[in-house]
Amino acid sequence: MSSNNPLDMLYRQVIMDHYKNPRNRGVLEGNSVDINMNNPTCGDRIHLTMKVEDGKITDVKFEGEGCSISMSSASMMTQAIKGKTVEEALKLATIFSDMMQGKEYDDDIDLGDIEALQGVSKFPARIKCATLAWKAMEKGLHQHH
Ligand code: FES
Repeated sequence: MSSNNPLDMLYRQVIMDHYKNPRNRGVLEGNSVDINMNNPTCGDRIHLTMKVEDGKITDVKFEGEGCSISMSSASMMTQAIKGKTVEEALKLATIFSDMMQGKEYDDDIDLGDIEALQGVSKFPARIKCATLAWKAMEKGLHQHH
């Protein structure tokens, strides 16, 4: 991802900030959702734990090993879904998936830091990195129901 475009540089900074200072890192005690997922192409992994109460994700943590894109995406994902309803979190996952496929996506919702990952859609080999945490979240929430 080399570019001197100022927006790309800003996005790269946001990605590196989440990679170096991951939000919501760890394993949640007393969780109601506990899910592990691998990226089969590289073996990198994420362990995601969430607490879901009355249809709302009241807390979430992740740990794992992976490249800067996968780990920063996990950090952004946890930041985005904490305090949201299950429905809202699944909607965000759909928006993110559309963004990664380069499709039009619903931009009525403020995506915050997640926007920094939109450039990944131009690098097909990295899309699985960016979507790993989101797929784990979707699978975990579907299993919960
Ligand atoms: Fe493994 Fe990105 S290279 S998740």
